[in-house]
Amino acid sequence: IASTPAWPLPFWIAHRGAGKLAPENTLAAFRLGAAHGYRAFECDVKLSLDGVPFLLHDSSLRRTSTGSGLASAQSWSDLSRLDAGSWHSRAHAGEPLASLEAVARFVQANRFGLNLELKPTPGQERLTGQVVGREVLRLWGGVEAHLPLLSSFEPVALEGARETAPGVPRGLLLDSPRESWLDEAQSLGCVAVITNYRLMDAARVQAIHAAGMKALVYTANDESVVAWLRANGVDGIITDAVDRFAPGD
Ligand code: G3P
Ligand code: MG
Repeated sequence: IASTPAWPLPFWIAHRGAGKLAPENTLAAFRLGAAHGYRAFECDVKLSLDGVPFLLHDSSLRRTSTGSGLASAQSWSDLSRLDAGSWHSRAHAGEPLASLEAVARFVQANRFGLNLELKPTPGQERLTGQVVGREVLRLWGGVEAHLPLLSSFEPVALEGARETAPGVPRGLLLDSPRESWLDEAQSLGCVAVITNYRLMDAARVQAIHAAGMKALVYTANDESVVAWLRANGVDGIITDAVDRFAPGD
């Protein structure tokens, strides 16, 4: 992939698939988000012991699956047998962890946008970026119009992604202000900065736009917050509240 791809995301992006309404980071959550009209999804990706990218927010399996211990210590073959739905609700019992490959199939079949947050197990930052970058090229080969946006709080993970997949768009995530954030985003060749919504005032949006990047926020679930963010000129909102905000708005 040689040229810079077009911006791949609509304004509204469903957090972890469908926020809290279905088990986060599973295909059940993506389907529920889609049922609410969402056409783009954020999710968290990390590596199994054998280097298979799959969706999980925490380093440990305990909160959101029937497994325990570090997810990075287990093979995908073992991980794929866990139940990642029953912690959430009985209706979702038996829902498996989602591989990146399964997510790619789903979003490509539906022409949905995807924001893959690189969420490395600590110590695997560069490796996670490298492997996910390589996998995105393999899985999205030939469908460049809908390449995912790769984002991370970890600059090193974004460096890793740039090493293996320089043409796949990158976004720097920011949870608290630090002096060098804009320089970091630019030197990583990012097309977006995605901040905690509390940080995204009008001045920051303008600074991001002046640098030629998009300004996105997570995780805005409140009407008055959304009105403030729109007034500040943000380009996209990641939300849990897929039942409150209709993406046609
Ligand atoms: O990608 C933005 C957002 O998901 C970051 O926070 O903890 O929900 O992954 P977290
Ligand atoms: Mg995330």
